[in-house]
Amino acid sequence: MTLQIKNFKQYQKEYARSVKNPEQFWHDQALSFYWRKPWKKVVEWDFKGPDVKWFIGGKLNITENCLDRHLAERGDKVALLWEPNEADGKTKSYTYRQLHAEVCKTANALKANGIGKGDRVIFYMPMVPELAIGVLACARIGAVHSVVFAGFSAQALADRVNDATAKMIICSDFNKRGKKNIPVKKVVDDAMAMGCPSVETVLCHQNTGQEVDWNPEIDKWWHEELKGRRTSCKPTIMDSEDMLFILYTSGSTGKPKGVVHTCGGYMVYTCYSFRNVFQYQEDDIYWCTADIGWITGHSYIVYGPLLAGATTVMFEGVPTYPDAGRFWEICDKLKVNQFYTAPTAIRALMARGDEYVEKYDLSTLKVLGTVGEPINAEAWHWYDEKVGKGRCPIVDTWWQTETGGIMITPIPNVTETPPTFATLPLPGIQPCLVDKDGNEIAGNDVEGLLCIKFPWPSMIRTTYGDHERCRNVYFSAFENKYFTGDGARRNKDGMYRIIGRVDDVINVSGHRIGTAEVENAINEHDNVVESAVVGYPHDIKGQGIYAYIITNENVTDEEAFRKEVLQVVTREIGPIAKPDMIQVVPGLPKTRSGKIMRRILRKIAEGDVSKLGDVSTLLNPEVVEQIKIGALVELKE
Ligand code: WT7
Repeated sequence: MTLQIKNFKQYQKEYARSVKNPEQFWHDQALSFYWRKPWKKVVEWDFKGPDVKWFIGGKLNITENCLDRHLAERGDKVALLWEPNEADGKTKSYTYRQLHAEVCKTANALKANGIGKGDRVIFYMPMVPELAIGVLACARIGAVHSVVFAGFSAQALADRVNDATAKMIICSDFNKRGKKNIPVKKVVDDAMAMGCPSVETVLCHQNTGQEVDWNPEIDKWWHEELKGRRTSCKPTIMDSEDMLFILYTSGSTGKPKGVVHTCGGYMVYTCYSFRNVFQYQEDDIYWCTADIGWITGHSYIVYGPLLAGATTVMFEGVPTYPDAGRFWEICDKLKVNQFYTAPTAIRALMARGDEYVEKYDLSTLKVLGTVGEPINAEAWHWYDEKVGKGRCPIVDTWWQTETGGIMITPIPNVTETPPTFATLPLPGIQPCLVDKDGNEIAGNDVEGLLCIKFPWPSMIRTTYGDHERCRNVYFSAFENKYFTGDGARRNKDGMYRIIGRVDDVINVSGHRIGTAEVENAINEHDNVVESAVVGYPHDIKGQGIYAYIITNENVTDEEAFRKEVLQVVTREIGPIAKPDMIQVVPGLPKTRSGKIMRRILRKIAEGDVSKLGDVSTLLNPEVVEQIKIGALVELKE
C-alpha cells in the first residue's frame, strides 16, 4: 500500500523528500499497485502546452487495482455499503468478490452493446449501486465515463452528451430523493429529443419500477442486458495516459468544460491521498456523502477507497429526510469511522438544532472531513463539538475537479487543525501564492492567488476536445504555474486558508456555477435584454446567486417575471443554478469599453456599499444610484 503518514516529523521528512526528488517519491508510491507493464519514466511535463505525462509507458487497468487485486486478501470484505433513501429501507452490501462479479457482468453487457475502448458513456443516474458499478464497468473495458449530476436539466445533459459525443447514456427510470420522486428517464428522453446524434443506446436501470416511455430502437433495460452475462471480464489494458473519465465543470466563461483525467496518475494519487487524509485502517467504515456526479464522489466514494481496499458507503438520499438526523442515524447504524461532507450540509443541519445529532451514538467516528467551499468558524465548531465530541480531528480538504484529488489538507492526528484552515499541502504538492503579475509571494502571513508550481499525478490533462481552452484557463495566467482560480492566505505558521474564487465562478452549496452560464440562461427569456449575475454571502449555501436584469418591456407583475426567470434557468441548467435574488434594473454599470463592473454589483449584493470606489469613470455612473435604490438587501453606506 502507498505511504500512510503517522506523525508530523514523518510528514516533514516526506514533504521535503517529495520536493527534492519528486520522481523517486512518486515512483515509490506507484510501486504498490498492480501494473501490467512498469513505467519507463515517472514524469515529463511542460506547463506551456500543457503537456503532462505520468508513469510513462506504464500499462494497467484501474479496476484490477480496485477489485481483482483485493480478491485474495479481502474478497469477502464488504467493498460497498449502500443506504437507501427510505430510512426503513434495506442496506445493501457488496463484498469485493460480489462487486467484482457485478462490474464484470456489466462490462460484458456494455461490450455486447458495442462499447469499447475510448468510447464515451454518459451516466445520468441517482445514487444507486449501479452507478458505481457502471462507472467501474466502463473503466474495465477502457470506455470513458462521464457522469452528469442527475439534478441537471435536459438541456445541460444534451450539451454534455454532445460535447463528449457519447455513444451511450446510462440512466434510471426514476430517482427517489427525500420526498421527491424524480422522472430521470424522462429528462434523458427530453435530451434525446433535443438531438443527441451520437447516442446509439440508452441503457435504463429499473430503480423504482414505475412506467416510462420507451423507444425500442434505442432504449434497453439494464437488467435484461445483464441477464446471463459472465461474471468475469478480461480487463482492457490501458496506457497510464489513456483517458479514464471526463467530468464537466463550470468556469468563468462559456459552457462547462470537460475535465479529462487519465488512468495511471489518477489511480496513484487518489489512493495515496485517501489513505493519508482519512487514515483508513483495515476494518474501518468510511462514508463520503457527496454525489458521484461530482469529483468528490469519483475520487473518494469510488476510486480512492476501493483502491485502498476500504469499505465505502454510498447514500441514495438527502441529509434532511425523513428528518435532520438522517446522517447521524446512518453513522450510528453502520458504525461509520470516517465521515466526509460539505460545509453547506453542516450549516443546514446545524440550523435544525442539536437534538437530531444528540439522539445517536457517534462514538465510532474517528475523522471528520469537509470539502467544497470555505467552512465558517461557527460550522467548524459545531461539527467539532456536536458531531466529533471534540475528539475527532477535522480535515478541511481543499481541492478541485481539475486536481483530481485532495491537495491541501490536515492529516488527522498529524497536522494541527486550526478552524477554517486547509493547513498544509500533502507531500508531492507544491502550492504557492502569487501577486497579480505572477510574482511569487515568499514568506508567511501573506495573501495572494493560489497556484501550483509542480505537476502532480492526478492533475487535469486537457479539457475534452479543446486543449487550448485548458491552456488559457489554467496555464496562461502565470508562467509555469497551474492557476487554481482561488485566493488564499498563508498564516505565520505557513498554513493555508482558502478565501474563495477570484474569478466569475460562484460556489453555491459547494457546487461550482459560472456566472456567464446563468446569465446566458436568463437571457433566453423573451423579455430580457441583458443580465449580470454575482455571488453574495448566504447563511446556508455559502454563496447565493444575485441576478441583475434589464428588461425590454416594463415588468408589471414582478412575482410572475421572477418565476419565469427561475423556470428558464431550471430549463437551461437545472434547479441548482436558480438565482436567490432577482432585481430588475434600468442599466448595468459599465466601463467605457463596455465591460460590466461586477465589483460594484458584488458590493451591492453583499449590502456593503461603503467602499464602492470611484464610479465617475463609468460609462453610466448614474445607474449605480438607481441600482442601490432598488437593491433587495439592506445597504450599509
Ligand atoms: C472549488 C473547486 C473538490 C471537491 C469539491 C469541489 C472550492 C473546494 C475547498 C475548501 C475552501 C474550497 C474552491 C475550489 N473549494 N474545497 N476546503 N475550502 N474552498 O470541486 O466543483 O471543482 O470546485 O471549490 O473554490 O476552487 P469543484
